[in-house]
Amino acid sequence: MKIFLDTADVEEIRQAADMGLVDGVTTNPSLVAKAGRVYREVVEEIVEIVDGPISAEVIGEMAPAMVAEARELAKIHKNIVVKIPMTPEGLKAVKICKAEGIPTNVTLVFQPLQGLLAAKAGAAYVSPFVGRLDDVCQDGMEMVAELGTMLRNYDYDTEIIVASVRHPLHVAQSAIMGADIVTVPMKVFRQMFNHPLTDKGIQAFLDDYQKIPKA
Ligand code: G3P
Repeated sequence: MKIFLDTADVEEIRQAADMGLVDGVTTNPSLVAKAGRVYREVVEEIVEIVDGPISAEVIGEMAPAMVAEARELAKIHKNIVVKIPMTPEGLKAVKICKAEGIPTNVTLVFQPLQGLLAAKAGAAYVSPFVGRLDDVCQDGMEMVAELGTMLRNYDYDTEIIVASVRHPLHVAQSAIMGADIVTVPMKVFRQMFNHPLTDKGIQAFLDDYQKIPKA
């Protein structure tokens, strides 16, 4: 399973990328606003840190505006993936981008048919938001499972990016169901490494080592 970081914090990305475990990055306007930076500058820095798909989102609402933004974003680097919201205009833009060789990631997907339509339009990636569904008492991971079945049934090569991930259990469930990619905030990335018994075990080994007679 590929692991993407869901952040616009360049320092966080640098730290995680140093571990050699980050396959890509997803950003959105809210994440960039949190970072307090100019969107394009952030993306220009990220592409130099991670050699993998980097999603940058359009803000236009009509297809021609989205396509114009997509063309500009695609000029930044060969790894740019243009993130486009799941609307009829968005899918029109996806189709045009596909024809022009610009890969897209259809975002804000909350039910499986939206993902199926995105695949049909030619999206390279589709991003179901699991945490936001859980927040309104719907099972986000169940939606991912249904979408996965639909895409497999028709052999779409669109990859699923499980997004709006809130905790390591979302990541484990994604891996068990064979999701292509999970995009995680830094907090969840760190949590994936941890278990209290690991810390306890390391401390016990260190303490016991001190008891070994030294030559
Ligand atoms: O990748 C989409 C993600 O950033 C949304 O996450 O936590 O705002 O639901 P969240």
